[in-house]
Amino acid sequence: MASLLAEFKGKIDLIYIDPPFDVGADFSMPVPIGEEDDDFIHKDPSALEMVAYRDTWGRGAASYLSMLSERLVLCHSLLADSGSICVHCDWRLNSPIRLTMEQVFGVDSFINEIVWRYGKMSNATQRFPRNHDTILAFGKTSGYSFFPVKSAPSEYRARYERFLEGNKVLYGSVRRSSDRLILGRVKKVENELGRKVTDTDVLFDFDKEFKTQDDVFYDISIVKGNASEQLDYPTQKPEALIERIVEAFCRKGGSVADFFCGSGTTGAVAEKLGRRWIMADLGRFAIHTTRKRLIDVQRTLSAGGKPYRSFDVHNLGRYERQWWQQEALKGADTEHRRVVLEFFKAEILDPAKSSSPLIHGRKGRALCHVDGIDGIFTAAEARGGAGRGGDGGDRGLLPGVGL
Ligand SMILES: C[S@@+](CC[C@H](N)C(=O)[O-])C[C@H]1O[C@@H](n2cnc3c(N)ncnc32)[C@H](O)[C@@H]1O
Repeated sequence: MASLLAEFKGKIDLIYIDPPFDVGADFSMPVPIGEEDDDFIHKDPSALEMVAYRDTWGRGAASYLSMLSERLVLCHSLLADSGSICVHCDWRLNSPIRLTMEQVFGVDSFINEIVWRYGKMSNATQRFPRNHDTILAFGKTSGYSFFPVKSAPSEYRARYERFLEGNKVLYGSVRRSSDRLILGRVKKVENELGRKVTDTDVLFDFDKEFKTQDDVFYDISIVKGNASEQLDYPTQKPEALIERIVEAFCRKGGSVADFFCGSGTTGAVAEKLGRRWIMADLGRFAIHTTRKRLIDVQRTLSAGGKPYRSFDVHNLGRYERQWWQQEALKGADTEHRRVVLEFFKAEILDPAKSSSPLIHGRKGRALCHVDGIDGIFTAAEARGGAGRGGDGGDRGLLPGVGL
């Protein structure tokens, strides 16, 4: 976050963070290799992840809150004057987090305490089942931007049920045209005594009739096992939830940041809604998942003829390629190639014997090129022309590999 200040200070429109409390203990993850779904290696936490774990949760709530307040101060600097921040939390720490946010952003900048009622069923007997998270929204200043979101049609259907007799209305006939909601034929009780029922067409003006979504979101469920967006990332949040937040607090074309991005929900939503995004996470599995997810979003947008943008992945600290090159590989590109090809279970080819010096391996029917550690593989190079360009960056389907 600090490294973003030089370029983005005062420029970000919305920050959404979902910093884990008590759930981020285990950074080890199964990482799938190759095309066979059942082929995994178990990745242990790195030294950096273990240190972060200790700093974040080592002293319970105290270390967590001090980690968070340092980051909130940086968030404040990164936000535009009209920007806002949403912090996702739950019953365990929402009170101290709100006080910390009041300290950094000021009591007058409080916008909302959003309750996300996620509807998990439970048979709790000691208390009411805990069934919501809290999202605390603050502006950088009291002049923050807000774009009202209209409440969901499902809520509206419920409100008009009083028109119904025997619940016979076909909800399937409810549809929204460009600016109006047309509720198809409903049965209306005209005369309570005689039970006179007439079929009536009801037409609602969307902008007039629909009210602004309030601060209790109860129509969005957790990401279910069979949902198409499900990525097997344990703390993944639903896209519909982030969509509502992005639409309410960030103008079209604006920028959204998430510094605890997990599976990349915020960036995926921002990209689909035409906002720019910056995401960060300390876990390698999170970055791996996010990167794959965003490539999928690009592919889907591209297939639908819609615009999408390219993105960069940067590594800081121990994840920096320079560190890996100098400390671990002592600058040896050949060793790097061997490690990468072995990791992806590709056959290693002798460049002297292969058809082009650019071909380093083979996986199934695909030929593999492993780029230099700091290399950018250019189109000219792929066509067999000369010239390498750039001095950094990270692109392609696999880290450092062109297939
Ligand atoms: C609750 S998850 C975020 C889930 C995300 N909202 C989603 O929809 O997938 C929190 C993330 O914070 C990351 N994390 C934990 N401590 C961190 C730290 N100190 N700095 C940056 N990321 C951290 C974890 O790796 C985890 O991916």
